[in-house]
Amino acid sequence: MNEYASVVRGVGGYLPEKVLTNDDLARMVDTTDEWITARTGIKKRHIAADGEATSDLAAIASKRALKAAGVKADDIDLIIVATATPDHTFPATATIVQNKLGITRGAAFDVQAVCSGFVYAIATADNFLARGQFERALVIGAETFSRILDWSDRSTCVLFGDGAGAIVLERQDKKVAGERGVKSVHLRSDGRYKDLLYVDGGPSTTQTVGHLRMVGNQVFKHAVSKISESVKAAVEQAGCTIDDVDWFVPHQANQRILSAVAEKLGLDEAKVVSTVAEHGNTSAASVPLALAAAVDDGRVKPGDLVLIEAIGGGLTWGSALIRI
Ligand code: ACO
Repeated sequence: MNEYASVVRGVGGYLPEKVLTNDDLARMVDTTDEWITARTGIKKRHIAADGEATSDLAAIASKRALKAAGVKADDIDLIIVATATPDHTFPATATIVQNKLGITRGAAFDVQAVCSGFVYAIATADNFLARGQFERALVIGAETFSRILDWSDRSTCVLFGDGAGAIVLERQDKKVAGERGVKSVHLRSDGRYKDLLYVDGGPSTTQTVGHLRMVGNQVFKHAVSKISESVKAAVEQAGCTIDDVDWFVPHQANQRILSAVAEKLGLDEAKVVSTVAEHGNTSAASVPLALAAAVDDGRVKPGDLVLIEAIGGGLTWGSALIRI
C-alpha cells in the first residue's frame, strides 16, 4: 500500500475576456440560440484574444491555483499540462508554462488525451506523487479550441470554447492526509473509434494544424455508456458506493450527456456541477474549470468526495474519485 496521498491544495480557473454568444454564432452559420440551447445547454463560450496562447491561459489559471493553495511557484516540482491545442508542436506547453511561472526546477511535460486529458493528467501526477518522486504538482487543463475549429461547420463550431483550469496536488503522508486525496482512477481508450472525433491535420500527416471533425451523435452514444461504466469501476475500486459521492464534476461537453449519465448512475441531479452554459466544451480545461467554480462558490468543501470524469478523441475516457 502507498504511504503517500495526493491531496488537492488549491484550484484555479481562467476564461478569456472575449465572449461569443449563441446569437453571435447565429450571425455566422445557419443555427439558432434555441437549437444550441436545447441540444447542448450551451449559452456562450469564451475565445482567446489574438496572440493569447494556451500557455497564457494555463499560466493565469495556475497562478490562481497557487494563490488558493497558499504555495509559491517555486514550491512546484512537477507540471503536467493536458492539452490538444499546444502553443507549438514542440516544446511541450508545460515547459512554456514553467518558464512563465519562473520555475527552474523539477519536470514539466504535456499529456494528450483530448477532452479526457485532465483525468489522465491527474492519474499521471498521482502516480508520481504516490511513488515519492515529486512533492507538489501543478495539474493543468488548458485549451484554445477556437484555433482548430472549422468556423463554417455549424455541427462543431457551436460546441467548443477556450479556457484553462489548474489544481495544486501535494504529496502528503497518509497519516497527515487522513481521508483526503485521490482515492481511485480508472482510465480507458479504444483507438478503433478514431474517426468519430479527430483533427484532420498534424505534423507527420499533412504538415498543417487541421480542423476538428466529429460524428457528434455517435460520440454522444459512446459518451453515456462508457462514462457510466468507468464511473462504476472507479467507485468500486475506491471501495465506496455512488451514494457516497458528494459532487459530480463531469467533463462539460453537453448538458444532455451530464444529465443522462447522472440518471444512469442514479446520481441526484442536485449533486451535478454544470458550467457548460457558461463556456461550452473547453476540452481538457472543463473539469478543473467546473471544479474551480464549485470550490469558489462554496459548494465543494474540504472533506467532500468529488467524482470527475471525461470522454474525448481517441476515443479516450476515464474517471477519478478525489476526497477534497
Ligand atoms: N444548428 C442547427 N442545426 C444543426 C446544428 C446547429 N448548430 N448542428 C447540427 N444541426 C442539424 C444537423 O444537420 C441535423 O440535421 P438533419 O436532421 O437535417 O440531418 C440535426 O441538427 C440533428 O443532428 P445530430 O448530430 O443528430 O444532433 P444531436 O442531437 O446528436 O446533437 C450534438 C448534436 C450536440 C453534437 C451532440 O451529438 C453531442 O453533443 N455529441 C457529443 C459531443 C461530445 O460529447 N464530445 C465529447 C468529446 S469532445 C472532444 O474530445 C474534443
